[in-house]
Amino acid sequence: MIAAAERLIVALDYPSVEEALVLCDTLAGLVTRFKIGLELFTAGGPLAVAAVRARGMRVFLDLKIHDIPETARRAARAAAATGAELITVHTAGGPAMLAAAVEGARHGGGAGVLAVTVLTSLDALELARIGTVGTGAGAVHDLVLKRAEVAQAAGCVGVIASPREVKAIRALCGPGFLIVTPGVRSHDGGGENDDQKRTGSAGQAISDGADAVVVGRQVRDAAQPRSEALILLDQIALAALGSGP
Ligand code: C5P
Repeated sequence: MIAAAERLIVALDYPSVEEALVLCDTLAGLVTRFKIGLELFTAGGPLAVAAVRARGMRVFLDLKIHDIPETARRAARAAAATGAELITVHTAGGPAMLAAAVEGARHGGGAGVLAVTVLTSLDALELARIGTVGTGAGAVHDLVLKRAEVAQAAGCVGVIASPREVKAIRALCGPGFLIVTPGVRSHDGGGENDDQKRTGSAGQAISDGADAVVVGRQVRDAAQPRSEALILLDQIALAALGSGP
């Protein structure tokens, strides 16, 4: 049985390393995995990763690389060289870019590459507006599944996908493929600044077969981040009990 703490990744969405470390320290002993994304990495660079790792935490470096294959290869190598255990690329970059990123990450120190299927902030209407999918029923779902398949074939260790698509990806890609799920909300409504559209609960994502969930604002903006993390860990532990190994 995988411990609940292994399944919770807290996003350090902050403009400075100092602020990020305050949340790390607040959650010490409960949370062991943190996500560093574009905001913190742009502000703090590899030193941000080093500072979080120096506290004994595991780092998921979410830079969502999306470029021509050679640039993606080199960026993935540099991202892996920070010591992050996982890095991200956009499947929209295509199969050759995904394979190049996987190769780059291997040379950079062996970080696993997770592929973003479709951002959890996008819904069918927005995807149709940018010409990615038609407006037919199930179009987003089908796109996510197609991208998961392409990511697996390119050598990615797993995908980032919304809680709504976990079950179908697990069925399609099998047990060894990582599914990491952002867009997790355990309370109704995320407030007026919430841009996530394809959301679901942490417990549901885990019982549907996700390996881990990523939570940002729900913990970061809570009056009591430790209590919020404990609620999530309880939900995850309960869901994992019912969903096998
Ligand atoms: O605050 P919230 O819980 O929505 O944060 C989710 C985190 O997961 C953010 O850091 C966001 O960049 C990231 N993410 C996402 N959707 C994806 C990939 C990553 O929300 N498809």
